Amino acid sequence: MDTTSTSTSTSTSTSSTSTSPGHSGDLDEGAAPSHAVIRRSEMIGATLNVGGQPIDLSEYATTGIVGVGVGPRGCGKTNVGQLIGEQLADQGWQTILFDPENEQEQMYGEAVSGPEELRHLLMARSRKIVVVRAANAAEFVPYGRVVLEVSDLIRKPLFVVIDEGQLFSATRKRSENIGEAADIINEFVGRGRKRALDLYVTALRFTGSVHRLIFANKNLTFIGCQEDAAAWSTLAPQFKSSGIDFSDLSALAPGEFFCISRRGIDKVKTPMAEALRRVAPAAKAVKRALPATFSQWDRAMRGIPTERLQGLTDPVMTLLGKVAGLSQQQMLAGQAALQDELEAR
Ligand SMILES: Nc1ncnc2c1ncn2[C@@H]1O[C@H](COP(=O)(O)OP(=O)(O)OP(=O)(O)O)[C@@H](O)[C@H]1O
Ligand SMILES: [Mg+2]
Repeated sequence: MDTTSTSTSTSTSTSSTSTSPGHSGDLDEGAAPSHAVIRRSEMIGATLNVGGQPIDLSEYATTGIVGVGVGPRGCGKTNVGQLIGEQLADQGWQTILFDPENEQEQMYGEAVSGPEELRHLLMARSRKIVVVRAANAAEFVPYGRVVLEVSDLIRKPLFVVIDEGQLFSATRKRSENIGEAADIINEFVGRGRKRALDLYVTALRFTGSVHRLIFANKNLTFIGCQEDAAAWSTLAPQFKSSGIDFSDLSALAPGEFFCISRRGIDKVKTPMAEALRRVAPAAKAVKRALPATFSQWDRAMRGIPTERLQGLTDPVMTLLGKVAGLSQQQMLAGQAALQDELEAR
């Protein structure tokens, strides 16, 4: 039933005159001369402010943005998409928010009524931020096709936010719908550059969530608090020689991310998107009374006299742990550290 609008709209010119390097069969041929232009002028002079050093988008002019936000529930991934979406919408982009959670309408207005309305709004560029409600891959597909078609046709800057990417993309094809949705998103990634289509996808994890093509092509990554030490093995290569380790990731508060851009790694405290600020409270930053990194722990430990450490018997530790509200994992880590320290003295 979704087959009525396939993306044949632009393949009307049968003889491709394109001599640009690229894949044959690509849809790069077209009527407007701007199609040949790969360098994206709207990127020149545009910036993103996500809480650290402003990101100069001219650095993305030849690649486009493939953004990824990863982290557990509530760490602020969606906010990052909204924040970037708002900022780009103010700098000439049209932002499309795919909203599986039904959370965007109260912030950015009613969702489009169907694919035709989406097509109309994208062609007219009459609304800066467009919400598309899609709870699953089947609902996503017709809208995804419209985005592909229109971006191919008009090639004006579009920023597409796909929240909860794992609903629409999978590492393996699990069913028809998720397969087709994943193919569409992969097209956004693979061919977005030439269609002025930028992308931001959120996912709960780096592994076993969305298609690896997204991760392979990402160039703007937000990594939020990580509670699962097992995730470090997949994350570690990105932090190679940065001095950042798992404990730094696990100490991130909501809204805080390690942001990996073309510049390198920056720890950012993201501002709240304007629309979110109007409806949601700022997440309370938990004041960290405990050392957060290994060297801080090490220093703190070394500063404590041996008799004092020996006084930390199991019942005392349990009591202190309860008072401080430590988790079982933190208690075990503390006990192991205490034992190591006493053995080393
Ligand atoms: N940068 C921020 N600063 C302060 N508070 C924030 C920030 N970002 C988000 N929050 C708060 O945290 C809440 C959750 O944020 P958000 O919905 O972006 O998280 P999420 O990672 O997308 O969560 P989920 O996985 O559940 O969708 C927001 O409603 C807001 O109250
Ligand atoms: Mg979210």
